[in-house]
Amino acid sequence: MLPKVFGILAAASIAAAVPASITTDSGSDSTSTSVTHTSTATSDIAAAAATAKTESPTSNVKGAAFDRILQIYLETTAYENATADPNCQALIKQGILLTEEFGVGAPHGDNFGLNSDSFILVNKNVSTIVDLLEDKGISWGDYNEGLPYTGFDGFAYDNPVEGDYVRKHNLLARFNSVMDDPDRAAKIKNFTLFYEDLDNKRIPQWGFVTPNLYNNGHDTNITVSCNWTRSFVEPLLANPYFNDNTVIYITWQANGQNPIARNHVAGILLGSAIPKELVGTTDDAYHNHYSELSSVEANWNLHTLGRWDVGANVWKFVAAKTGDVIRSWNERIAGDLFENYYWNQSYGGVFSSAVEGLHVYVAPNTRLVRHGRTVLPSIVKLWARYCGKLPDYYRDIIELPDALHPPRASRSPSA
Ligand SMILES: *[C@@H]1O[C@H](CO)[C@@H](O)[C@H](O)[C@H]1NC(C)=O
Ligand SMILES: *[C@@H]1O[C@H](CO)[C@@H](O)[C@H](O)[C@H]1NC(C)=O
Ligand SMILES: *[C@@H]1O[C@H](CO)[C@@H](O)[C@H](O)[C@H]1NC(C)=O
Ligand SMILES: *[C@@H]1O[C@H](CO)[C@@H](O)[C@H](O)[C@H]1NC(C)=O
Ligand SMILES: *[C@@H]1O[C@H](CO)[C@@H](O)[C@H](O)[C@H]1NC(C)=O
Ligand SMILES: *[C@@H]1O[C@H](CO)[C@@H](O)[C@H](O)[C@H]1NC(C)=O
Repeated sequence: MLPKVFGILAAASIAAAVPASITTDSGSDSTSTSVTHTSTATSDIAAAAATAKTESPTSNVKGAAFDRILQIYLETTAYENATADPNCQALIKQGILLTEEFGVGAPHGDNFGLNSDSFILVNKNVSTIVDLLEDKGISWGDYNEGLPYTGFDGFAYDNPVEGDYVRKHNLLARFNSVMDDPDRAAKIKNFTLFYEDLDNKRIPQWGFVTPNLYNNGHDTNITVSCNWTRSFVEPLLANPYFNDNTVIYITWQANGQNPIARNHVAGILLGSAIPKELVGTTDDAYHNHYSELSSVEANWNLHTLGRWDVGANVWKFVAAKTGDVIRSWNERIAGDLFENYYWNQSYGGVFSSAVEGLHVYVAPNTRLVRHGRTVLPSIVKLWARYCGKLPDYYRDIIELPDALHPPRASRSPSA
């Protein structure tokens, strides 16, 4: 049984909170399994599937370092175990290995203290990467293996064709700003549609992929997930339509095997957008799951969410094109040695079961500017009046707090 490490709120890339698979633990939260928000009866699924709205828009917005990104989040696995697997090693040789990558629980910009597998709904006033992408006309799509139909919001589904799906791994599905918008829910699709989109040359520029519980290693192990990932990814790399100035990012939601270990996970960057001379090398800068957000923001010169995305280091191969400065951990700013940070437990927040902490949505810092990238105007409009009460939260820093070093805002409520 896995520890209650960080929950997942996040599809890291998603925005304020979505890092993808950060979640994934084993369902130790007893309240979560009883929650069903959408019927999973066969007849109801068939009826809903018949009318589900699906959209697959395309776009062609040039990026500084890549024109397409596909992200794959796998179940909790320690760095050492992922990098020891022969199939993952074969992938690593074809790209860049991120050697100092740490799970946070949610790549969306904030995990809001999530520490369980519960059915959560993030308030619609919390933005995600989707808002940033749409602002610049960049197409996006989210592909979840086992999802019975587009926009399905149920807690789980045992799909006889695609395998077992759980909502907790579908990071964007947790955001009301996504699911309450029919045109956005229409882009939360399954694998059948991934292959249809691939065949019809309409894979979006920003894509998120969540394999089922077997293939992502949740119900199995790293042998299965690396084998699956290699067999999923290699045909895409060989596909000239798909792999056209494309990057594929593979990561693991958390280091779950050992709760008292640091949340050190592997990250692999692949695809034709990786400069030839960097194939087979490593990026040893400090990264966490928010680096996926900052790298996407830098690549397309997007606005930001004003959360942990702002300060996160940009992947080096992207920074080389955008001019973003790579920073190293500053013990003085963090107030304690890097070695004392574990990121193995969420700090108090909206979704935390812990009594202590700040159980409200903390405002983003709408004044942050990173390398010329400002906070999305609609976020500034909504939140600016709360941000005056944010003395130290969300500064432009890479020094991400953990439960042992909670953000100071958790002691000074703001919104
Ligand atoms: C993970 O790696 C450690 C040491 O590197 C090893 O002791 C352990 O058995 C591995 N666990 C799995 C599930 O492979
Ligand atoms: C995938 O989604 C589509 C669109 O909603 C649906 O018609 C189809 O049945 C789903 N495929 C599987 C295998 O569940
Ligand atoms: C990994 O999981 C698969 C599928 O359940 C199983 O066949 C295999 O024995 C497992 N391998 C290890 C090392 O546990
Ligand atoms: C590895 O992947 C291949 C192709 O998807 C599959 O046929 C095979 O069963 C997988 N092996 C394991 C051990 O999961
Ligand atoms: C996280 O790791 C630290 C250091 O090993 C440990 O003291 C703490 O109890 C761990 N937290 C959890 C929830 O396991
Ligand atoms: C966002 O929604 C939450 C939950 O309803 C609420 O507490 C908060 O005041 C809202 N913030 C803003 C800026 O609207």
